[in-house]
Amino acid sequence: MSSSGTVSNVEGKADPFLEAVQIRRSIYALTNQSTISDERIVKLIEHSILHTPTSFNAQSNVAIVLFGEHHLKLWDIVKDVLVSKLGTEKYSKTEAKINGFRGAYGTVLWFIENRQVEAQKQKFPTYAEEFDSWAIQSIGMAQSNAWVSLEREGLGVNLQHYGNLIGERVRKEFNVPEDWILISQQPFGTPAAGWVAPEKQFKPIEERLRVLK
Ligand SMILES: Cc1cc2nc3c(=O)[nH]c(=O)nc-3n(C[C@H](O)[C@H](O)[C@H](O)COP(=O)(O)O)c2cc1C
Repeated sequence: MSSSGTVSNVEGKADPFLEAVQIRRSIYALTNQSTISDERIVKLIEHSILHTPTSFNAQSNVAIVLFGEHHLKLWDIVKDVLVSKLGTEKYSKTEAKINGFRGAYGTVLWFIENRQVEAQKQKFPTYAEEFDSWAIQSIGMAQSNAWVSLEREGLGVNLQHYGNLIGERVRKEFNVPEDWILISQQPFGTPAAGWVAPEKQFKPIEERLRVLK
């Protein structure tokens, strides 16, 4: 494994995009400050929802952006559920991590609007068994686009998955439609001063990419 994920000899119009993709990291040391306005944050999420492709243009990617007390409430729900599931003692091992997410500036909740997925199954029965997977693939792309753009503007972001534990509580608290399936939680905030991403290891690219010509 190497620690260099650098794409060498790149000189083209895609370079700013490549750089933005490459500098995106999971940032866990988040503060309750933001480098950009709430309106700008919402704009970036809106852009990801609008311009990330979905299979047959189903437009199944939906999100709720939580700021302020709503963001805090989300992480209080996670704490509540984990404490009741694990007990106080086991929870204490994960408490600092949850407090870290709660200490961020906000959180994006990502959902799949299942009505759109079911409609595609009806409309294109030949591919019916693929649509659940395609919806997941697409929301992964949307999360990535949002992640890259938020970090490009100076925010730190990470990606969490407590949906199976908190889905119903979240539905009630934030009045989420019945057919929205909670996929992930993406906390964001200005990175804590001095935070440095741990070095990442890369397997040799030759093991992961074949080129035939
Ligand atoms: C589909 C997917 C699911 C992930 N789920 C979690 C998660 O639940 N909790 C977490 O802390 N990180 C999660 N991550 C972050 C990865 O652990 C992280 O992206 C990976 O280790 C590479 O590090 P980097 O993001 O700094 O490049 C997830 C990433 C992906 C792509």
